[in-house]
Amino acid sequence: MPRSVSRHLLSYLVLPLAGLAQIGDKAGEVQRPIVPAALIPPSPALSPEEELRTFKVAPGYRIELVAAEPLVGHPVAATFGPDGRLWVVEMKGYMADLNGSKEDQPQGRVVVLSDPDTAGRFRRSTVFLDGLVLPRAIALHRDGVLVGEPPNLWFCRDRDGDGKADEKTLVASDFGVRVDPARPQLANPERAPNGLTWGHDNWLYVGAYTARLHPAGEGWRAEPDDFRGQWGQSLDDFGRIYHNSNSDQLRVDLVPGHHLLRNPHLGGRLTGTNFKVATDQSVWPIRVNPGINRGYRPEMLQDHKLKEFTAACAPWVYRADLFPADAYGNAFVCEPAGNLIKRNVLFPASARVSAAPYYAQAEFLASTDERFRPVGLLTGPEGALYILDMYHGVIQHRISLTSYLRAQAESRGLVSPHGLGRVWRIVPTGPAAAATPSLASLPELAVVAELGSSNAWLRETAQRLLVERAPSAAVVEALVALAANSSSPSGRVHALWTLRGLEDAGPVPAVAQAAEDIGAVLAKAMRDPRPLVRVTAWRVAEPRLARAEATSLRSILRMALLTERDPDVLTQLALSGTATGDVAFDELTARMCLRAAEPTFLTDAFLGGLAGRELETLEGLLRTPALADRPLVLALARCVLAERDPARVGRLLLAIHTLPEEVRPAQLALLGGLAAHPAVTAKRPVWLPAEPAVLAQLAKLGLGYPTAVGKLGQLLVWPGKPGLPATTVPLSNIEQKRYDAGKQVYGGLCAACHQPSGQGLEGLAPPLAGSEWVNGDPERLIKVVLHGLRGPIEVKGQAYNYDMPAAGFLSDAQVAAVLTYLRREWDHEAPPVAEETVRALRARTRSRTDAWTAPELVGR
Ligand code: HEC
Repeated sequence: MPRSVSRHLLSYLVLPLAGLAQIGDKAGEVQRPIVPAALIPPSPALSPEEELRTFKVAPGYRIELVAAEPLVGHPVAATFGPDGRLWVVEMKGYMADLNGSKEDQPQGRVVVLSDPDTAGRFRRSTVFLDGLVLPRAIALHRDGVLVGEPPNLWFCRDRDGDGKADEKTLVASDFGVRVDPARPQLANPERAPNGLTWGHDNWLYVGAYTARLHPAGEGWRAEPDDFRGQWGQSLDDFGRIYHNSNSDQLRVDLVPGHHLLRNPHLGGRLTGTNFKVATDQSVWPIRVNPGINRGYRPEMLQDHKLKEFTAACAPWVYRADLFPADAYGNAFVCEPAGNLIKRNVLFPASARVSAAPYYAQAEFLASTDERFRPVGLLTGPEGALYILDMYHGVIQHRISLTSYLRAQAESRGLVSPHGLGRVWRIVPTGPAAAATPSLASLPELAVVAELGSSNAWLRETAQRLLVERAPSAAVVEALVALAANSSSPSGRVHALWTLRGLEDAGPVPAVAQAAEDIGAVLAKAMRDPRPLVRVTAWRVAEPRLARAEATSLRSILRMALLTERDPDVLTQLALSGTATGDVAFDELTARMCLRAAEPTFLTDAFLGGLAGRELETLEGLLRTPALADRPLVLALARCVLAERDPARVGRLLLAIHTLPEEVRPAQLALLGGLAAHPAVTAKRPVWLPAEPAVLAQLAKLGLGYPTAVGKLGQLLVWPGKPGLPATTVPLSNIEQKRYDAGKQVYGGLCAACHQPSGQGLEGLAPPLAGSEWVNGDPERLIKVVLHGLRGPIEVKGQAYNYDMPAAGFLSDAQVAAVLTYLRREWDHEAPPVAEETVRALRARTRSRTDAWTAPELVGR
């Protein structure tokens, strides 16, 4: 994907919050629509029955209403309980007028829809929780519900059984930023976390967040995770997470980001995550689309209709058997700005996934109703595809509402009524779906059997229920039997994950007693004919593989590392091969990666679990000198250099130095590659106790060495080295404290887009590390943070064209701190920024409400 992507990528924040009052291409001027007025039909609010008639559904399918106002309003997230009730998050304060002026009022709710009639239409709605400010996420756990309400993630329970929550426990307080009632125009909780999803590994995964969560007794344990996606996420049968952002309809993590984050020496390089699945971004609305944020730009439209995704959200991989078989594993994606839902076919191949539209120049579902706003998808217990329809004329949040769209909404009366909402379901044409038994009322052994269901919702919900309860010996026995013998590969997979979940949950006697049987069933699964089951077996077995006494599992691992051929399993082995902590296995895993055509993400998957043992692995590999020219060996060497441990860096140089004469070109290339280290640079060299003998010896060899050695020599310093680089003026104690405080602000706010490594993220934000903006004029930087920045902008020679939201809600001290941090992290040497400078500039720019543009900042 080219670095320069059109600005609307960030301008359609489907459900993010707050910020600037108005954005337009030119202040004070309202652009005219491209669509001629005569072609724009009226867009009155329709009744559910009328809206139903506006849909065009793909052949073979039918759409049905299951709930509407007053039972539900502004639904944005939902999940089915084991009893078939639908838990819905209502984001009621969202854009009640064009200034979003009610969004700080506690109107948000969680309602439970129940008691369906024979047509599947819910007859009852119970308010479980109210008084919420823009709630946006939900997941069920044990006897309670997790609810995301920025800045908090709550765990809520109904202790007295009246259907209303009466206990609210704080799980996390960094779940986005709350709208600040005192300064609404400055609060900026954009890109807040959402899409709580139970992963197959029994961890809770959160979209647009930097941690994953695991229940720990009565509380929760958090581990760093990769920031991914914008709104919504979904799993496939491998448990891989799909996500997307505005104009990029489908991405997936082929390798879990949290695994890569385990190795700090990788330097924030996460290959295999955020993998682009769909390249075709075209959409086929069935109505004209004047009501989009950049509707005045010709390139947005084709025949007056939206041309490509601009508000892509809520990706959903359909995995049930109610739809015809060719729908299994298809990815559906919502486009609320174009009033449609896209259907993609996924093609897994060579450990990657690609997508293509199912229909040529048509959509799975499209509406002529401008207020049809699909923002959430989920599969029901019976296998139907459920759609959350916010049913609102305005979905663009005020932070990025153009003056053009504001005028559209005003002139065409799109703002009211407010508070409507619908839930639809899509079923195949033909007889109605059979009712599904309630998991809640099934005996435990019957719940175990559902792990092999053809509907992923049943499999995954059954797993969650079983992991959350203390199992009887009979249940454990049934799980072991299912893992060994289920005729459904998914049944074997979920039985394995359930057993692992029970083991992780703590010492449960029935599980501890079955430890040997579980080991045996894992050994079997490691040789399962289905790659999916083998992948699962390796993941599930990791804690066992870490124990030296697991000799039989380790010998199966040894065989697998030598003989496995399936690309998906190879990727998993790269991740799990290092779980033993034994360098012999590390080296075997490395050699497996080398044989497997060595795609970058396989190498990084391997390095992720290797943190701290890269040197030993490299030494082992270089016993085969012919491997010296392999990228994996260079990657290992770079990790060692990034460790900055003088003794280990010395050993690294020695291992390279002692390579035999016949691989001299490879040796040279390795040194050259090391000299071009992205994280260790001449400005931040590694300190050694003394000059390494190898450097001098290498220099004597000639053959082009001096250049490579010369460069490498700049990365290494020792006392008395001639021409030592002048050191930067050190920070005073007070400045150092400011830097530390800035690091906190950065992690909590900026890293979500610019990434912890400061390297930025494709499709989201430019790099800060090495940026001439960061190291340049501090006033420019302060302005960017206070009021935001609108592209196009050039950073390090690359063009970007997005929107950076204002962070003016930070205090002067916080702005000074985060900028001081930016200017000293990543080898930067720029002077720190003082609080007084921020205060003065804030006062001078007080009247500024719009984001800055690059020419304005440069031309100062
Ligand atoms: C929502 C994502 C997002 C967040 C959060 C964010 N930025 Fe940015 N930032 C951007 C984008 C996008 C640009 C480039 C704007 C463009 O393309 O028009 C940018 C540009 C910048 C630039 C100038 C260009 C460069 O790369 O040097 C600086 C400096 C900067 N941001 C600092 C910060 C700081 C400090 C924070 C935290 C207080 C922060 N940003 C938070 C998205 C973000």
